[in-house]
Amino acid sequence: MLQVKDRTPRSGCRYFCSILFNDPFSANYEAGSRWVIRLHNVGDNLKISIRNALENDINEIMLIEQGSFHANIVESRDVFLDRIRIFPQGFLVLEIGNLVVGYICSELWEHSEDIPAGNFRLNHTITEVHRNDGTQLYISSLGILQEHRKKGYGKKLFSELEKRAIAECRISSMVLVVSVRWGAAIRIYEKHGFREIQRIKYFFDDSARSDAIVMRKQL
Ligand SMILES: CC(C)(COP(=O)(O)OP(=O)(O)OC[C@H]1O[C@@H](n2cnc3c(N)ncnc32)[C@H](O)[C@@H]1OP(=O)(O)O)[C@@H](O)C(=O)NCCC(=O)NCCS
Repeated sequence: MLQVKDRTPRSGCRYFCSILFNDPFSANYEAGSRWVIRLHNVGDNLKISIRNALENDINEIMLIEQGSFHANIVESRDVFLDRIRIFPQGFLVLEIGNLVVGYICSELWEHSEDIPAGNFRLNHTITEVHRNDGTQLYISSLGILQEHRKKGYGKKLFSELEKRAIAECRISSMVLVVSVRWGAAIRIYEKHGFREIQRIKYFFDDSARSDAIVMRKQL
């Protein structure tokens, strides 16, 4: 995917444009969307809001996903659509004005003390593992558009999902898997009280075959 970088708008201009081309030869190519023009509102009084994801957010979610992870570990559009359909309360997006700049998604699992490494397989379908009465929240992914990172949005989304899951679901623990290389994510999880419980060697099929850390928080 070739991305024409966002331009800083001239003073007095409230909108600017970014054009995203979908390369048909890329692993990230999405059929039916050859290119996308996005109009960004950059005015002063933009509202930041967090809401449940909708199916028609999928193109923006996939752009964030593709900009956040190595091509070999990007999860598929269908996997994300199933997550939105099956557990919408566990799938949040953060918007600035009307632009989706971040997402976080999750599943409800039955609690088990020792979680087999296979349960964390990327691209597993939520339909295999999600139980509406599950007591363990599995946070399956989190991403923020590159140009909006380091502004506190990742923390904000994570805190909001945690708050809603505790209020709306009968969970007793939360679990997630993170690469040893994703420092910003690890920082968010540690600050929210997550602790390492397991390491999985060479879990990620990225260029470094990175290890994964499994982290859990008991409530
Ligand atoms: C992880 C991610 C969502 C964080 O989003 P963000 O909006 O940039 O994060 P925040 O601005 O809320 O910052 C979170 C914390 O990480 C710190 N941080 C930011 N970038 C960092 C980096 N590269 N290394 C270490 N810490 C970093 C911030 O200082 C902040 O810590 P603080 O609370 O002590 O100030 C974002 O970096 C991202 O999309 N990364 C790629 C995808 C990814 O790794 N997802 C995690 C999947 S498990």
